[in-house]
Parts: sequence; C-alpha cells; structure tokens
Amino acid sequence: MTGEVWFGSAARVGEVIDYSTADFDFADWARLVLQTDDLGRLHERMLGGNTQLEAARRMAVGALSDAFGGIEETFHRFVATVAVGALGPLVAYQVPPVFRVQFAGASSISRMHKDRDYSPSGPDSPVLRRNRNVWVPLTPVRGGSALWVESAEDRGDFAPVSLEYGQVLVFDAMSLSHGSRVNDTGMTRVSFEFRCLPMASHAWPTWCGVYRRTALHLRGQRPVSGPELRLEPDGSVRLDGVPLRSARYWPQGAELVWDAEDGCSGRVTLRELAEPGHPVRYVFSGSLKRSGVDFGYIGERDPGPAQ
Ligand SMILES: [Fe+2]
Repeated sequence: MTGEVWFGSAARVGEVIDYSTADFDFADWARLVLQTDDLGRLHERMLGGNTQLEAARRMAVGALSDAFGGIEETFHRFVATVAVGALGPLVAYQVPPVFRVQFAGASSISRMHKDRDYSPSGPDSPVLRRNRNVWVPLTPVRGGSALWVESAEDRGDFAPVSLEYGQVLVFDAMSLSHGSRVNDTGMTRVSFEFRCLPMASHAWPTWCGVYRRTALHLRGQRPVSGPELRLEPDGSVRLDGVPLRSARYWPQGAELVWDAEDGCSGRVTLRELAEPGHPVRYVFSGSLKRSGVDFGYIGERDPGPAQ
C-alpha cells in the first residue's frame, strides 16, 4: 500500500491511499447489486422513461444499503487493512458506511459543508473534531463527479480530488468544507464513505462516559461502535454483555490482559488521572482484537465514594 500525502504530512488533513481491488472488489459487488456491467453508465439503465433523477438515486442508494450484508466481512477487513493502515488503531468506525450515487448530469448531492456542522453535540465537539473520513469511490472520479474539498479550514479554495477505483481519500471532513458539484463528466459516480475515530487522536481527559461504549452519532446515521467493553463496578469485565472468564481489574490502577477468549485478545490499562480542578478519576485505555480487527478503547470511571 502506498500513501501519497495530499496536503502536507504535518497537518495530515488529507491523504490518498492505494489499495488492492483484487482483495476488496467493492465495484464487482455493486455491479451485481445494481445489475449493470458498468457503474459509470448506471444512468443509462436507471434513468429514462418516467424515472425521475431523485427517485432513481434513492433506489440505487437503497439497493446498495440493503445489500451491505453481502460485503460486511470484506468491509471490516478493509477497515482493518486500509483505514487502520492510514490512521492507526481505531476507537470506532461507522458501520454501515454511507453509500452515494451521483448520476451523470445530476446536480450537487451535497452542498459545501463541514461534517461537524451536523453534530448534535455542537460543532466544537472534541470527539467529532478528531474524526477522519474515508471516502471510497467505486468508479473513477474527476471534475464534476469528484468530491470537492478546500485545502485548509475556511480557505474556500475548493478543488476536485481525482481518484481511480482502487484509491481512497482519507481526510478531515469535520473541519474542511467539502461537497459535490454538477456532474458534467458524462459518467455516474458510485461511492461510499465512513467515519473513523483514530485512537492516536485522543488526549486526556477522555471524552467518553463512564463505562460507556465508544460511539459516535451523526445526524441521520446509525452510531458507529466497536464491541462494547465494560469494566463493571464489581471488578468483572464484560464484552458485549458476556463476562470474560479470566479477566478482572482492580480499581486502584492495574493492567488486565486476556488472550483468545471468545476469539478475542486484548489488554487494558487502568490508571489514575489527577487534573487541576478535577477530582481524581480512573481512566482506562487498551485495545482489543476480534475477527482480525483492532479496536481501541478509552474511557473513564467516575470517582466513586469508595475509591
Ligand atoms: Fe460530508
């Protein structure tokens, strides 16, 4: 895998990553779902007669979304390989991804915006600011079929990001305005995207609640999450509600390690955190591997009266 730094490595706000379409042939799946030999010419099959553009777009996006189960395993592998390769271990990522279809001749399917404009927790939520967007075209995109992105926050110098099938754009969609324009290329664009929360982006104090699943909510989308790891008040540990037999933790700061239990392995470290103006809290961080996918965990315990 090669990574071409797009805007500058220091800011790491945008990067184009190559991947193997033989390993992750999303376009082949999409062709089957949409019953076409050529996604770029999907408009020829779906438009015409009395079919309105918007109705056809909804139909195509709905078909891809409904069929997601057929590539879900591939998608998780893709995240573990391509997204984790670019961003490092993830706290959480969005499942399922958001599918988009922009037919040839269609107007913009999203005005210029920052994703954090839609945050229910406000545009300055520190969690959302740390997200990165992985944008995956299943057709070549350029000009009017591409995503247009500004090169730095509020610069407004929108430019299309040309990509081939087999390339993804990893970028800071939370802070960089982006959107689409009229697709005047004569070719339909099919793409999907998902948001990732990289573990490396976290800084103490943690944002997530007490024992709570690390999840992100964006308006109109399902929460993204990894398996839920809960450190219970009695010292036991549960993974998606199932107690891990060998795992216990100690509230004064300890390390917990388990291997190959229920197909998982992981390590969690607890430590005290003292900050000016805050009571002492216990924070945990760690990672978990399940089905070949790495999840990062980060969280905190309330300063209970017994601590
Ligand atoms: Fe967006």
